[in-house]
Amino acid sequence: MKKILLFFVIALPTLAAAQSSNGNAENGKRVFMKQNCYYCHGTTGQGGRDGARLAQTALNVQGLIRYVRKPTGGMPAFTEKILSDQELTDIYAYLKSLPAAKAPKDIPLLEQIR
Ligand code: HEC
Repeated sequence: MKKILLFFVIALPTLAAAQSSNGNAENGKRVFMKQNCYYCHGTTGQGGRDGARLAQTALNVQGLIRYVRKPTGGMPAFTEKILSDQELTDIYAYLKSLPAAKAPKDIPLLEQIR
């Protein structure tokens, strides 16, 4: 009986936490466009003149949220009022759904100039 109780006390909250870290990539894309992230980071997170590449970011969800709330460089901060943690989790899912950069050897034109 005790073991069953322990399951509810320990396992269930853990499962619930795992669930809420699953973002909705489709909504993430919408928010990414609406909040103008694309303006600096490119519509598919490929990076641009003003922003770093974000597709397949090496950050985890918490790291991304922390960064966006308190950027270290030339990026404007986005407070909770503008962008909720859930919306940032969705953006994270979107960024993780994007294709990674190609390896140089997979770009034929680069092979030609070797
Ligand atoms: C005005 C341009 C601009 C906008 C708009 C912008 N960013 Fe950035 N972002 C930057 C720049 C520049 C950096 C690189 C940090 C630096 O200045 O060194 C950056 C860095 C980041 C990083 C850290 C990347 C890494 O791997 O360290 C994340 C994550 C990020 N931006 C997410 C976002 C999200 C999400 C949005 C929209 C809510 C957004 N940014 C909007 C300019 C922008």
